[in-house]
Amino acid sequence: MELLSRRDFTKQSLGTLLTYSLMETLFRTDAIAEEVKPITNKWLLGVEQLTRDVKDQTITQLAWQEKTEELFSRVELEEFLQLIDFEKLTTNIKMVDNGARSLKFEFPNVEGLPKKLVFGKQVFALHKGRSVVPHGHNNMATAFLILKGDLHGRHYDRLEDGEKDFVIKPTIDRTFQPGEYSTVSDFKDNIHWFKAITEPAFIFNLHVLNVRPGSELPTGRVYVDPQGEKLKGGLIRARKLGYKEAHDLYG
Ligand SMILES: [Fe+2]
Repeated sequence: MELLSRRDFTKQSLGTLLTYSLMETLFRTDAIAEEVKPITNKWLLGVEQLTRDVKDQTITQLAWQEKTEELFSRVELEEFLQLIDFEKLTTNIKMVDNGARSLKFEFPNVEGLPKKLVFGKQVFALHKGRSVVPHGHNNMATAFLILKGDLHGRHYDRLEDGEKDFVIKPTIDRTFQPGEYSTVSDFKDNIHWFKAITEPAFIFNLHVLNVRPGSELPTGRVYVDPQGEKLKGGLIRARKLGYKEAHDLYG
């Protein structure tokens, strides 16, 4: 009987091991590919559930922000882009010279997802240097997820509502990259402003309306100039603006 030298034996085993591990990797890659869709679908179902909860007031707006941000932290950007067919959505589009263009899309049919979603959605397309102009929100909960490009993102708490201005406090001021996100509610980080610093930039936005029953303010956006008079304690007196002036100044 031919005996393998220790050296040959080691070599042969190593070869077998490598083959096994290669096969294992291949199988695992395949398994991941199979799982890709269900993970994203689950994410979408989670988002829908949370938006329903905040609208029904079974969770607070602050809890909605926290849970939504946790969900957003888990989204795989590549999978999400596939889900909304980002390539198709953004090919040959007409960009705008001021502000952001809103692109409409539909999510694919996902089991368990109602035909009519509780939340609204869109993708903002921006040229470099253009902005989703500074604005606050009444009776709304919203979220941004950066899909492509870098943006300078700023948020402010809205502390006091005056007749012609707000007293606001800067809360977030940093560069946002693809995959990063932020949220808005009536109670926290209510005002936001995102300026594209690369060409082009795309943001996914979701919004839920009527999350504050009894609110006497008209539901929707309120435009504001966050670069106003500096007050004590880092606060700012921010003048209310109309749509046009906000876009003339910041679009
Ligand atoms: Fe907004």
